[in-house]
Amino acid sequence: MTDNNRVIIFDTTLRDGEQSPGASMTREEKLRIAKQLEKMRVDVIEAGFAIASPGDFASVKAIADTIKDSTICSLSRALDADIDRAGEALVNANSGRIHTFIATSPIHMKYKLQMDPDKVVEQAVYAVKRARNLISDVEFSLEDASRSDLDFMCRIIEKVIDAGARTINIPDTVGYAVPDEFGHTITQLLSRIPNADKAVFSVHCHNDLGLAVANSLAAVTAGARQVECTINGLGERAGNASLEEVVMALRTRQDVLGLHTGIDATQIVPASRLVSSVTGFPVQPNKAIVGANAFAHESGIHQDGVLKHRETYEIMTAQDVGWNANKMVMGKHSGRSAFRSRLEELGTTFESDAELNTAFARFKDLADKKHEIFDEDLQALVSDTRASH
Ligand code: KIV
Ligand code: ZN
Repeated sequence: MTDNNRVIIFDTTLRDGEQSPGASMTREEKLRIAKQLEKMRVDVIEAGFAIASPGDFASVKAIADTIKDSTICSLSRALDADIDRAGEALVNANSGRIHTFIATSPIHMKYKLQMDPDKVVEQAVYAVKRARNLISDVEFSLEDASRSDLDFMCRIIEKVIDAGARTINIPDTVGYAVPDEFGHTITQLLSRIPNADKAVFSVHCHNDLGLAVANSLAAVTAGARQVECTINGLGERAGNASLEEVVMALRTRQDVLGLHTGIDATQIVPASRLVSSVTGFPVQPNKAIVGANAFAHESGIHQDGVLKHRETYEIMTAQDVGWNANKMVMGKHSGRSAFRSRLEELGTTFESDAELNTAFARFKDLADKKHEIFDEDLQALVSDTRASH
């Protein structure tokens, strides 16, 4: 039975993520990441762009030969050689997909492709048919969809579905869309295209305005059922929608969105760390879900609240996404109860309130001078307090 509320997670870290300047990966590195994505139960892994280079072909092939539980996808332009090379790389895949695309916006058709719209439709249909002769699972993308004409999109989509495309991807290639508008586009496409029910509608949002995740959520609310995203939001320019944010937003707000994914969220932090170490791109400390501070509390008010009831300041647990635990960071904003609790965890209990008060006052002095207070600092501070009593 099909589950209408299940959102397919299509990870493109190894393709669009790798297009981020400086993020290129070796075949072995890509294979390691693909194995982690499979462990995380990603539905579709876009392993690369087989025609791009012999190395990319070898990576797609190695991943297709190895990974069994996720569908493996290769990108191709709507060109014979690209499609055939993608098919060749996927020949041993347990479940393979060719993802072919052509631009549909007036600016791309006129200046980049130098093709008139009728020719673009013809080439798209031809490409999908050629891909379908090689593989049953074909995805078609309308590059720069968010700047394309709605009537034209309806026309081309109806034709490529008739030609055999089973996933229709609507990319916000340049990160231009805003959520209400993007959601409305999806609603219009789904209601106006007569054979829309024969395909899964997908979205692929870039983050140029910092709206990739918001646009993806607006699209699934409007009926899209596949989200294309990357670990840590890696990708061209400002990146792609971040997988961890999309997945955890769907999970944490299932009460309003009513949707779910098949992702094992406890594998998110290991995946984030792996991608960061392979690419050398650090994760910013305040990055949602996977940043070092995402589950850290420093202010006294917050620490006190969390110690009394975790949900006062946490909307998901650190363990849900693969961290060992949340973190009480000791600094100048920390309060007495977090100070005492941390020392108790370290095996130090105070003999009297007076001792606690003196140690806490010394801690505040130190915190004003020192950026980060370590457990050793706290223990030394208590020993000094005791020695001076
Ligand atoms: O951003 C984009 O339009 C793409 C397509 C090739 C899907 O990456
Ligand atoms: Zn993209």
